[in-house]
Amino acid sequence: MAHEEPEGADVQKPSIKAPKTREGIESLIRKLVKEHNTPLLLILKSVLSRQFYYFKKKLPNIEPFYAIKSNPNAQILKHFVSLGCAFDVASAKEIEWVLRAGAKPRNIIFANTIKSEADLQYARCHKIDLLTFDNELELYKIAKFCPKARVVLRIKVANIGSVVQLSLKFGADLEQATYLLKKAKSLGLHPEGISFHVGSQCTNINNYIQALEESAKIFAEAASVGIHLKLLDIGGGFPIKHFDGEDGTIFEKMASTLRKEIKRLFKGYDKLRIIAEPGRFFCGPAGILITQVVGKAFRDNKYYYYINDGVYQDFSGVIFDHCKYEFKTLKHGPKLLCTIAGPTCDSLDIISLTEELPELDIGNVIYVKNIGAYSCASAVPTFNGFAPAKVLVI
Ligand SMILES: Cc1ncc(COP(=O)(O)O)c(C=O)c1O
Repeated sequence: MAHEEPEGADVQKPSIKAPKTREGIESLIRKLVKEHNTPLLLILKSVLSRQFYYFKKKLPNIEPFYAIKSNPNAQILKHFVSLGCAFDVASAKEIEWVLRAGAKPRNIIFANTIKSEADLQYARCHKIDLLTFDNELELYKIAKFCPKARVVLRIKVANIGSVVQLSLKFGADLEQATYLLKKAKSLGLHPEGISFHVGSQCTNINNYIQALEESAKIFAEAASVGIHLKLLDIGGGFPIKHFDGEDGTIFEKMASTLRKEIKRLFKGYDKLRIIAEPGRFFCGPAGILITQVVGKAFRDNKYYYYINDGVYQDFSGVIFDHCKYEFKTLKHGPKLLCTIAGPTCDSLDIISLTEELPELDIGNVIYVKNIGAYSCASAVPTFNGFAPAKVLVI
């Protein structure tokens, strides 16, 4: 169940610089715990900006469309609008949210390949005319409710090694591509380009290379039947670090390969417009979740810590995003094996079965960095009466 409104629309605070050291982060957390109740999801605008500019620097010819499904918080959207970012939306509600944040319709792609008739009508009413599709029936719907729209064919590509595999559910088979593009044209639509998604948290550059090669083949095949495509959408999937010790250079290496491969494969396409749909990469590193221990038990020879946020709330990524997090505490000392569980009465609500943390007591803080994406976005508002964390965007 999603929130009716993205959380956090009413929280207005001046920006602060992101603390760089563990001491800096922990002193900020101590201050915020005194000022606010936990659970608290802190979003640092300076990190949102840093990720946006890092992406632009490493992929200068690719326009980012922030995939708001990863975190649709109103202030995050406004922040990206102020940076000049475009948006990838999946529903009428998401269109409403980005328009309300100040996005221009021309900077929006409706990138859910399956759209309801009502959502298509909403898109048309709000002048959104760039839409993805991956099957013939969708084309009939688009032609009926968004006549003359520019359509982008999403193809099925390898998602090998990606944490969230999207090709299980989406993407046209490659052999169908030219047929579908021709069909779009015959229905009065404008076949604009090709899109793909290599799967979320993709660390395997070969997925991108293969997808680019397939796309280039379709560009050539379409040109041979008189359809001259203008847009390549390389989707999202760009990976982030969840643990301090992880390699933080994967994106940079990936970007370098992407630049070279695009140049190699799309040589003749001077006017090619290339866009991407980063979600996690833009908002994940900006989030720090601050929780407190509300219960403690000793069973099976280890401590169980029950904290005031769980898999139904901001740790929803454990279930929906297959995500693993690094748990840190303000208390330091010798580490013991423990389990971290959420506050609900459900046994699914175990955030991590095995961690090593200093011995904690009721009220002690456990915090997690890099949790700005797919956390509050997929949280349930009120299961068992436990609300997700208050969102503080600073
Ligand atoms: C169509 C589409 N675009 C972009 C994204 C964002 O992906 P990521 O957060 O991996 O960048 C998703 C995520 O599932 C998606 O479905």
